[in-house]
Amino acid sequence: MNTNKIGFLDSGFGGITVLSEALRQLPKENYIYYADIEHVPYGTKTKEEVRKYVFQAVEFLVNQGIKALVVACNTATSIAVKELRGMYDFPILGMEPAVKPAVLNGNGKRVLVLATALTLREEKFHNLVQRVDQEHVVDYLPFPELVELAENMIFDYRKVIPVIKNKLAGINLENYKTLVLGCTHFPIYRNAFKQALPPFIDIIDGSEGTIRYLKRLLEERRLISTNTDGGNVVFFDSGIQIQNKERLKTFEWLISHC
Ligand code: DGL
Repeated sequence: MNTNKIGFLDSGFGGITVLSEALRQLPKENYIYYADIEHVPYGTKTKEEVRKYVFQAVEFLVNQGIKALVVACNTATSIAVKELRGMYDFPILGMEPAVKPAVLNGNGKRVLVLATALTLREEKFHNLVQRVDQEHVVDYLPFPELVELAENMIFDYRKVIPVIKNKLAGINLENYKTLVLGCTHFPIYRNAFKQALPPFIDIIDGSEGTIRYLKRLLEERRLISTNTDGGNVVFFDSGIQIQNKERLKTFEWLISHC
């Protein structure tokens, strides 16, 4: 057993949607959550910039003595995870758009992937699509507006649903069966998506699978915790521990709503 914390990293609030799944599946672990708000959003920046920020964040988390790292950000994963795995021995998990399960779910019907512009530009995404999209049913669209809404703490669906509808206005949704939330910020708005989309469209993301895999790796490497006081999270904004009560409340509210 190992009582060290598990590190989580995202540009902002998005990784909370993955952390809340970890708290469900691994309630005896303790966590450090790093929101890189000094540099949010990642998705509209260059690959080189994001790489630099992610390496800074990981170095900070490593200095805190983490036993595993979840790069709870699709954008950061596509830029840096491979290189990070070559540098550290502890388990490093990333996020990638759940394209494969979406293609299987669609049974020939189209799949729409929403993610950041940088994720969609990267080779990692195109290789994934090429591997699993034999029937050419996958379409994709960047959605930076939703990251911006989340970081501005706009959680009122009356404001969010029109933004979603507007983004999808040019798409004939009748042809689609599955929507992939390929950015960890987007599941914050899962219910807004449900309300904005026709009921025959399934909405999927990769959090559950990533955390299931994390659990397996911790077990295999005997890193799993049997703490009785697990489930604690320490939050950092770009390396500074968050003390502000209002900000902490937002994080906690998001954990309970995702
Ligand atoms: N949450 C992130 C992702 O999954 C990035 C959002 C952003 O900073 O642009 O891609």
